[in-house]
Amino acid sequence: MRKLLTSKWTKVAVFLVSSIPFVQLSWGLLRNDLGINPVETLQHTTGDWTLRFLIFTLAITPLRKTFKLPELIRFRRMLGLFAFFYVVLHFVTYLGPDQSFNLSGMWDDVAKRKFVTVGFAAFVLLIPLAITSTTGWIRRLGGKRWQALHRSIYVCAVLGVIHYYWLVKSDVRKPVFYGVLVGILLLWRVWNAYFRGKGNAPATASTRVTAA
Ligand code: HEM
Repeated sequence: MRKLLTSKWTKVAVFLVSSIPFVQLSWGLLRNDLGINPVETLQHTTGDWTLRFLIFTLAITPLRKTFKLPELIRFRRMLGLFAFFYVVLHFVTYLGPDQSFNLSGMWDDVAKRKFVTVGFAAFVLLIPLAITSTTGWIRRLGGKRWQALHRSIYVCAVLGVIHYYWLVKSDVRKPVFYGVLVGILLLWRVWNAYFRGKGNAPATASTRVTAA
């Protein structure tokens, strides 16, 4: 297992698998095969994948600690950046085909529709996380500050769930399902912090940087 997780090919495989939704959407767009409402298909697929990648990113720490697989950390940055990649596509689909690149119309919509307000807030919060995701930025900010900044991913995931919950008209099963997953991942952190505080060894500089 460890050999698999440390292989550079596993990283390449994770990258390729994470790109599949993008390839499928691009292929569908090229072939004009995205259903009767292509903009809606783009918006929904990219929104869904943003939330899924946020959840995958948040799942890395609980998985690596529970199963004692520190090597899993190698995939966290990539998964987080894929969340950002899909939210940029999601936003561009909204700004372009939906709002015709009319910025003042977009601001009106952000102010008017509360589900757009929270989605936009989550997007804005993700920007500094994507920018500072490199090792150079970890060094520049210092582990503690970097980690504090990157904790805002918890807020992004919660806002993403609220955004989804508010936009669906009747069947709330999917947003509730995502909400339960995010809830479990956040509660695990509270539980872990409580027990770590109650006697486990304090985090070292290297584990601190990777604790989000
Ligand atoms: C982290 C940020 C975000 C996440 C996680 C997210 C997630 C989602 C999800 C899961 C959906 C529904 C997909 C489905 O129905 O299967 C969605 C739809 C949508 N999102 Fe987002 N979103 C985010 C940011 C944004 C932003 C920044 C905007 C625009 C400013 C936006 C505008 C929309 C719109 C217009 C829809 C479609 C609404 C409809 O069907 O009527 N989202 N989003």
